[in-house]
Amino acid sequence: MHWTILGAGAIGCLWAAQLQRAGASVGLVLRSPERLAQFQSRGGVSLIDDSGETFCPLSATLAATPRPIEQLLLCTKAYDSQAALESVWHRLNADSRILVLQNGMGSQQQAIERAGNDRVLIGSTTDGAYLRAPFEVVHAGHGETAIGRFDSTAATLPDCGPHFGLQLRQDPAIKTTLWRKLAINCAINPLTALYGCRNGELATVQAYSRALDALCEEFEAVARARGIPLFDGPLRDQALLVVRTTANNYSSMLQDIRHQRPTEIEQITGFLCNEARLAGIDVPHNRAALQQVRQLQHNRGIVSPSTSASPKSLSN
Ligand SMILES: NC(=O)c1ccc[n+]([C@@H]2O[C@H](COP(=O)([O-])OP(=O)(O)OC[C@H]3O[C@@H](n4cnc5c(N)ncnc54)[C@H](OP(=O)(O)O)[C@@H]3O)[C@@H](O)[C@H]2O)c1
Repeated sequence: MHWTILGAGAIGCLWAAQLQRAGASVGLVLRSPERLAQFQSRGGVSLIDDSGETFCPLSATLAATPRPIEQLLLCTKAYDSQAALESVWHRLNADSRILVLQNGMGSQQQAIERAGNDRVLIGSTTDGAYLRAPFEVVHAGHGETAIGRFDSTAATLPDCGPHFGLQLRQDPAIKTTLWRKLAINCAINPLTALYGCRNGELATVQAYSRALDALCEEFEAVARARGIPLFDGPLRDQALLVVRTTANNYSSMLQDIRHQRPTEIEQITGFLCNEARLAGIDVPHNRAALQQVRQLQHNRGIVSPSTSASPKSLSN
């Protein structure tokens, strides 16, 4: 099976390198001729992990290439997902399979609506990776990738080769897994972006912890109303646990703001606010956080491709 990676950022390069190392056939789809030229001057991806640095030779093309796609990994940022999928639509056929691996919610449902439930697997990962330079990925945190179907029907894990270096898990409740990740992201990401702080400060600065409590209580009310089971204990305890274990980290949302990149706020807090509206629940603290992050992006001159798009409900 040939893998096509759409979104050659941190996660895309991590998967591409690991697939190549596992002996799978894999290629990247790049967004522009400039990116392609940049890639071709090196001809592969560098993977930096515990065992050092490995160069993984790969091919790359532009979306317009006619080669049919067997297995697509869609791992752009969530706000780029729809446009990216459209760009390769002519290369997909009835046998093509798509694995959507993104944070937040809304983009998964869009892919299913476009390609049909049977062709789409949904993933949620706790791996951590970042690009040291274009096409040079650091595998900073080893986690696992849960994979399943949105409607909870049986899903077989895609073939990544016998020696694939990332941990995969079949997840019959992937929607719940995504909601749980969303819950943690809703609690931590907007606040760290707005306060400009490390994760740990949400536990040590009293005013920040109170803000986190308020976001969590609202989230729990919405999840209850939508019939989504979260954690055994209160969400705030779970969020504070994550905050303490990642105390020195800067959240991805804060890093996006600092690097002048759009955040995934629409697919995170925006999604939650939309779900709350559908459930008839007021979530003033989350609404305020959404508006403030939008304002922060605006003030920094960051144009988000999805600011005007209202994330879709996934509960039905
Ligand atoms: N990084 C992590 O540790 C991590 C962990 C868990 C979940 N996630 C989630 O995984 C997803 C991907 O994250 P990431 O960190 O890998 O993001 P990223 O580093 O920003 O990479 C996204 C890549 O998508 C490319 N792209 C966007 N639109 C495209 C298009 N139309 N055609 C081709 N390429 C396109 C971008 O290309 P350009 O470079 O040309 O802009 C960029 O290289 C996000 O939803 C994120 O929240 C990430």
